[in-house]
Amino acid sequence: MRLLNIRLIVSLILGITLVSLVSSYYEVRAQKRSLRQDLEHRAEVLAESLAQNVEPYFGKGSRRLQKIVGQFGNREHLEGVVIVDREGTLLAVTPGLASSLASQSHAVSQSMIDNHGISEFVHQGGGASNIYAVPLHKDEQVIGALAIIHDATYIEAQKARVWRETFFRVLVQVLLIALITLLIVRWSIAGPIARAAQWMKALRTGRASAQAPDMDLLFPLAKEVETFAQSLTAARNAAEKEAELRAAAASLWTAERLCVHVRGRLGDSRLFVVSNREPYFHTRQGKTIQAIVPASGLVTALEPVLCACDGTWIAHGSGEADREVVDKNDRLRVPPDDHRYTLRRVWLTKEEEEGYYYGFANEGLWPLCHIAHTRPIFRASDWKHYQMANQRFADAVLDEMSGIERPVLLAQDYHFALLPRLIKKERPDARVAIFWHIPWPNPEAFSICPWQRELLDGLLGADLIGFHIQSHCNNFLQTVDRTLESRVDWEHFAVNREEHRTSVLPFPISVDFDENPPSGESAYIERGVLLRELGIEATYLGVGVDRVDYTKGIQERFLAIERLLEHYPSYRGKFSFIQIGAPSRTHIKRYHDLFGEVEAEAERINWKFATGKWKPIIFRKGQHNHQEIERFYRIADVCLVTSLHDGMNLVAKEFVASRHDQQGVLILSVFTGAARELRDALLVNPYDIEQTAEAIRSALEMRAEDRQTRMEHMRKIVREQNVYRWAANLIGSLSEVRLDQAEPSVFAKSLGV
Ligand code: F6P
Repeated sequence: MRLLNIRLIVSLILGITLVSLVSSYYEVRAQKRSLRQDLEHRAEVLAESLAQNVEPYFGKGSRRLQKIVGQFGNREHLEGVVIVDREGTLLAVTPGLASSLASQSHAVSQSMIDNHGISEFVHQGGGASNIYAVPLHKDEQVIGALAIIHDATYIEAQKARVWRETFFRVLVQVLLIALITLLIVRWSIAGPIARAAQWMKALRTGRASAQAPDMDLLFPLAKEVETFAQSLTAARNAAEKEAELRAAAASLWTAERLCVHVRGRLGDSRLFVVSNREPYFHTRQGKTIQAIVPASGLVTALEPVLCACDGTWIAHGSGEADREVVDKNDRLRVPPDDHRYTLRRVWLTKEEEEGYYYGFANEGLWPLCHIAHTRPIFRASDWKHYQMANQRFADAVLDEMSGIERPVLLAQDYHFALLPRLIKKERPDARVAIFWHIPWPNPEAFSICPWQRELLDGLLGADLIGFHIQSHCNNFLQTVDRTLESRVDWEHFAVNREEHRTSVLPFPISVDFDENPPSGESAYIERGVLLRELGIEATYLGVGVDRVDYTKGIQERFLAIERLLEHYPSYRGKFSFIQIGAPSRTHIKRYHDLFGEVEAEAERINWKFATGKWKPIIFRKGQHNHQEIERFYRIADVCLVTSLHDGMNLVAKEFVASRHDQQGVLILSVFTGAARELRDALLVNPYDIEQTAEAIRSALEMRAEDRQTRMEHMRKIVREQNVYRWAANLIGSLSEVRLDQAEPSVFAKSLGV
């Protein structure tokens, strides 16, 4: 900082001095010129008028001449007058004036030769004079010359004065500017730097918060440093947490531990994820474009993995402003505030989306795999679009993989049954896994699909197929056994077919389990606030959170509430159930109708029982973010998950994860994957309305100690079997798969060799 000060000040002194000197030089020159011109002008006027006066008396020894000349002298800067004849002989001179000055003057002789006035400045004995000579005439003949001599020393004195003033002005300017500069440096640079240094030191030693102090001019730097600081704090917290966990010999999975695990498992290969739903979609809000995270367990699960290894996520660009934010290769870096991985968007026309997503995936495969008594619809045109879309996504994946050796691909869900084969055909060196997020039905149920062989063949292109639970794996293996020529290895849960082996294993998906309760009001106060917001009065609250989907058993749940109020009238006016229903796939008629049916059912039951400010069912339609939903989880006495069939159901796990108070009872359908893990929930058959009604009553009347014991057990399971463990197990198993011998020619082709 001292060096900076010296450099700054020396540069300022040199700069200001130079500028002042140059400007003063020109100023002095101009002033000198003007003084000289002024003097010459006065001399000329005087000489001209005097010449007329002396010409009649011109001649040697003329007393009149001497008298006229003698009158001049000791006027303002005027030294005197000299008159000479044509030969330079002195005829008259002002007394006391050195006559030699004029007689030797070049101006005097020259004025007679040129026959007009000439001015000359001469320096003599430390002084300076101006001689202005005019020729004298008789009968128009030059007969001599008259010279006016002025003392010009005052011009030099004036010059010296200007220089002196310049010196003092420069001195004062330099001192002032140096002082101001020093103060600015101190206040605006040295001060903030010192504060920042102090803060960073405190941060390094763990004594400061990650929020940067006021850094004034260094504000842009402060923002960056603050991000560093936050990462450092997060890393330190994670390290401390890890250390605590190690000390406690615990085996909890965290995002940080997953990062280390994934990096270790992948080595120098790259990770690719392909899913239909994208992790961020862009929408227009007024004049700005906003990135939105869809409410999806899949995103929560996969984002830390992608961030950890800077992978590429390929997904359908479905946001209205999605095209406006990608580069020419349809890529963008995400998360928006902290670019950690690449999102590659794939575009589909309305017609393609209709056939592939709404049609084959959601009207065909979804009801086929969920035994929920909604008949699957298989249209040849939808199948065509499904094939085409799988090829479109596979092309995008292959494009992203181009030039990358031994890539790793995690394909997601029932939208991409054909994709593993398409990838493996082109890239036998790739490790390919597909995770099937929904149930797999028994072989008889699956066999109604006209393209069952093609779907199975596509899936078996993968090295690893993941389901939530073992029974879905078993159903899949039985389906393959019945449908395709292959050898099922029941001991290791794998399929051997055409020299390729596919492992089929369970990986129960989960949620992020946050140990820290959210800040804010207590559950008791929050409940009062929420009831006021909803405009109702109730003593007991139940909650259900679902996409409005026929697999979720929402109407069955409402019927159970009706039955509870019929059988136990004491709960009338006391128990209210809040159903959060996110509209989903409403473009499909069955879903569109269902929304109306659910609404009508809630209205019917409300009409039957509602009194005053109380009603049994509050149906909150619309998308709710995680924070909004968590408020309801925290205040509920009971959470109802009554799916008719569900791969896992993350609502059940989210409810458990959010009950930091160890209270609340979970009623859970036995037909969910979650029921295999959360054995302390009250398990129900959702088709059995009486049983579910009884379960609600048991939940509301359960002793606080029982509630606590059950919740503690369930929380222990969700804490340990969290989403990071799911991702770690999936990637761990895939990295252990032995790849078949890759065909060099194909591999070389995809590498562009
Ligand atoms: O349960 C399967 C699943 O694909 C989930 O991954 C997802 O959250 C849900 O269905 C809804 O899917 P989408 O709205 O993308 O059709």
